[in-house]
Order: sequence, then structure tokens, then C-alpha cells
Amino acid sequence: MRAQLRAHINGLTADELPAYVYDLPALRAHVHAIRAALPDRVELLYAAKANSDPWLLQALAAYVDGFEVASGGELGHVRAHFPEIPVAFGGPGKTPAELDQALKEGVQRLHVESEHELRLLTSVLGERTADVLLRVNLPVALASVALAMGGRPSPFGMDPAQLDRCLAVIAADRRIRLRGLHVHLASGLQATDQLALIQQILAWAGDWAHTRRLDLTEVNVGGGMGVDYARPHHRFDWAAFGAGLRRTLLRDPRLTVRIEPGRSVTAYCGWYVTQVLDVKSSRGEAFAVLRGGTHHLRTPAAKQHDHPFEVIPDDSWRQPWERPEVRDQPVTLVGQLCTPKDVLARHVRVERLRVGDWIAFAMAGAYAWNISHHEFLMHPHPTFHHVDDPRIDDAEAVERAEMSVAGMRALQAP
Ligand SMILES: Cc1ncc(COP(=O)(O)O)c(C=O)c1O
Repeated sequence: MRAQLRAHINGLTADELPAYVYDLPALRAHVHAIRAALPDRVELLYAAKANSDPWLLQALAAYVDGFEVASGGELGHVRAHFPEIPVAFGGPGKTPAELDQALKEGVQRLHVESEHELRLLTSVLGERTADVLLRVNLPVALASVALAMGGRPSPFGMDPAQLDRCLAVIAADRRIRLRGLHVHLASGLQATDQLALIQQILAWAGDWAHTRRLDLTEVNVGGGMGVDYARPHHRFDWAAFGAGLRRTLLRDPRLTVRIEPGRSVTAYCGWYVTQVLDVKSSRGEAFAVLRGGTHHLRTPAAKQHDHPFEVIPDDSWRQPWERPEVRDQPVTLVGQLCTPKDVLARHVRVERLRVGDWIAFAMAGAYAWNISHHEFLMHPHPTFHHVDDPRIDDAEAVERAEMSVAGMRALQAP
């Protein structure tokens, strides 16, 4: 944990726990490095579903080419904070109201998930036009991945054969402009596998367009860049990924490739900080009960992993009885919920953990608070803190944000 962040956490009172603490300078540095590693021709959208906290979006806006949203709610939220930023709208089951909202709120790209959705779009268009990507579920072999959304039967996107029916609808309707294809097949791939997958996608897309005499100018290859919760310091190799993409794109100088990562962008900047309420032994196994739990940080339950954490010792024990503790032994960290599923980390060896010590869970910046079932058992919500560095020149960040919007390339092409 960075010293500045640790100092902020040390300044919290126990009453403020559990707390989500976001490290904004670390987020900016991380996304800056991602952007720098990518070829200019690759556009970077942030998938807002990973974490749509406005402070995070604001920190990211200076470095990304836009946001990817997956609902009318996310779209309204992004537009309320960023009236101008380019937005792509994807996700299955869009309602007519959402399609209409997308057109009203100036979405640059609509990712169409089925022929029916395309026909719905034609029914709400009126005099307006829409720029679409067709989402396709390619028959590719996926390496072992955390979450597969394609390459097998799936509700996401269309089988290749169904694309032709969409082409017929588009050919008959001048209001719809086909810009290209969208392919998000999996989450949790490391750089080499992700690159190999993208090469397969681009080769397939090129052949598909060629045989139909289509001018393919854009392919959105999705997100899913891997995050390893078991090895918090082992990050997706953006440098190797960027270099590989640069080589791949040499073959097709006119194609714009777009990526839309979420987890790998914001996971590392968030910390969920809480306190040990009880330590006990059950049939020889140690348990530490923490304030809060998976209703605040569902990530370990959703992904079935041990969430990485740091112990922050607290020496202010004032009770007259012996302080419950575990020393140099495995302990299971659980929350306050009345369910055996409320486990944040299982059988993890700690040097020492006492009632009253604080625990800071790392990698809590993506699919964490926003995917959790907050109201179950009606515990208080956490407090939220956005740690920033006053030495960072806001004017410069704003300027970069404006440049990023102005510099949006293919998304704004006429
Ligand atoms: C269409 C689409 N794009 C992007 C993402 C972001 O994926 P990740 O957060 O794994 O990068 C998702 C996640 O489910 C998605 O469904």
C-alpha cells in the first residue's frame, strides 16, 4: 500500500469503518501507463460496469477515448457527469426505451446483440440515424478463462450465420450505418492469450467482411484483460499486449481496433478497510469475524477466491479481558452475515490477528461495492473516501480530458 494511502487510512476513525478508500493518483498512473502501452490506433473505452463511481470516471476521463455502458442507467449516469464524452452502449436485452435514450443521449456506437434488437432499433429510430456494431459470438477455442461469454452457446451476441440476416435489415434501412463488429468473448485472459484471441477475431472479421464485400473499419474486441487476485503484484502485461497489437495492426492499416476493459483498469485502486470484531476457534479452525462482509465486497464470493488483504495492527485495546487473537496459523475471514457464504478469505495464514486490528482488502476497485447486495441484514453502508494528491495539477488533468474528447477518432467520424 502506498504511504500516502496508508496515512489516510490511519487517519480514519473506527466509526468510519468499513470504508472504501480509492487511490486516485494510483488510478491515473495506471491508466496512463495502459494508454501509453497501446498503439495510437487502438481506442480505449472503460467499461463503466466495473465501477461507475464518478470520482473514478473523472480520473479516467483524461486518458480514455470514452466509456462503454451496458444499461440505460449507466448511460444516464455517464451522461450526467460527461455530457460530451464518446459512449458505446452494449449489453443484451436493451428495451425500446433504452434504445430511444441511446439515440437521445448521443451514443456514438450501439452494439447490437440480435436481429430482434436491430429490428427494435429500426422501430424507434424515426428520422434519426444510428451507428452500430454487430456483436458476434465466434466459434473460437478459449484458453481456460475466469468467465466465458462466448465461444460456446451463450445469450451474448449472435452466431455468425445470424449476422447475414442483420445485414439484410441494414441494407434495407439507410438510417442504420454498420460500422463493424463487436466481440467480447471472455474475462480473465492474460496478455499472450488475449492477443492470440484478438488475432483470431481480426482474421475471422477480415474474412467475413471480404466474402461479403463489406468495408470493415472497426472491430471492438471487448475487455476481459486478466486480473490475478492470488498475485496482486502480477499485472496484465500491457506493454507486451500493446507491442503485439502494434505488430498485428500492421497487416491492416485502415482498421480501428477498440478495447473496453473494466476490471483490469480499476481493480487495483480500491481498498475495502474494516476491523476484526471477533476471533474464535471452531472445532480447531480459526475464524475472524469482520465488520461488514460480502454484502459490501461481493468479489470473493462471486469469484470464489481468497481476497488479498493487509493487516493493520491496532494497539488501542482497552478491555479488561484477554484480547482474542490468532498467531501464525490459518484463519478464515468472514463477515457479519448469517450465511456460511459470507467468506472473504479462507484458511489464510497470518502472523498475528487480534480483535480490533484493521484489515485492508486490496483490489477492491472493480466489481466490488457495485455488485454487492447492500441491504441484506441492513448493516450500515461503508463510508467512501477518494484520496487524491494535491500536487497533481487539476487544470492539466482537465486539459487532457478535453484533448481526449476532442481526439476521439473513429467514434466521431461522420
Ligand atoms: C461486453 C463487455 N465488455 C467489456 C466488459 C468488461 O470486462 P472486464 O471487466 O473483464 O474487462 C464486459 C464484462 O462483462 C462485457 O460484458
